[in-house]
Amino acid sequence: GAVEGVAERVVTWQATHGRNHLPWQQTRDPYRVWLSEIMLQQTQVTTVLDYYTRFLDRFPDVSALAAAPQDEVLGLWSGLGYYSRARNLHRCAQQIMADHGGAFPRTAAVLSSLPGIGRSTAGAIAAFCFSERVPILDANVRRVLTRLLGFDLDLASAKNERLLWDHADAQLPVRDLEAAMPRYTQGLMDLGASLCTPRSPQCSDCPLVAQCVAFKNGDPERYPVKTRK
Ligand code: ADE
Repeated sequence: GAVEGVAERVVTWQATHGRNHLPWQQTRDPYRVWLSEIMLQQTQVTTVLDYYTRFLDRFPDVSALAAAPQDEVLGLWSGLGYYSRARNLHRCAQQIMADHGGAFPRTAAVLSSLPGIGRSTAGAIAAFCFSERVPILDANVRRVLTRLLGFDLDLASAKNERLLWDHADAQLPVRDLEAAMPRYTQGLMDLGASLCTPRSPQCSDCPLVAQCVAFKNGDPERYPVKTRK
C-alpha cells in the first residue's frame, strides 16, 4: 500500500537491488538449497560457486550423497574448511534416507532436528523452498534487525537472543506469502551483505532508513551488541 510496512519494503527492494541470479536461487529443490546454505555458512559466495557445482555434479540428490563414502564427501569439501559441515551434511543425508523415506522434511521445525541444521538454516530452507512463514537470524540479518529495532540488549544472553527471534518473527510478511517469503528472506540477507555492513553502512540507499532506530540515533555501528560470555 501507500504506507508500506518493513516486510513490503524489503520485498520491493530485493526485486530490483538484491541478488537474483545465484544458482541456488533458480531452484526450490530443498536438497540444493540446503547444500548452498551449509556452504554459505562460513564461506563467501564467490568461493562457494565452484564447490556447489562440483558437489551437485557428483551428488545430484540426497540418495547419492547418503550412499557415498565419507572420504569422497570430504574430498569434494577440500579447501572449504570447517569440515564438521561436510560430516554433518553426510550424516544428515543418511538420516533423511533412514528416517524420512528419502524425502526432505518440509517444515522448519522438522528440518531443525537434523544434523548441522540450526534454527536459521532451517528457516532459510523452509522459506526459500516452501514459503513457510518463519524467520532467519544469521549474522547479517541479526545486524539488520538489531539496527532497525534499536535492539541493544546483549546477545550473549540466551534470553535476549530468544527475544530477538520473537522480533524477527513479528516482522515477517503477512500477505502473498508464497512469493513474499523467499524474497523477504533473501532481501534481509542481501541488505546485510550490501548496505547494512558492520562498518560505514550505506544508510542513504537503504529501503528501511525511515524506520531504522539506529539510523535515527546516529549509531548503527553500535549494533549488534554482544559481550563475550
Ligand atoms: N548466505 C547465506 N544464504 C545465502 C543466500 N541464499 N544467498 C546469498 N548469500 C547467502
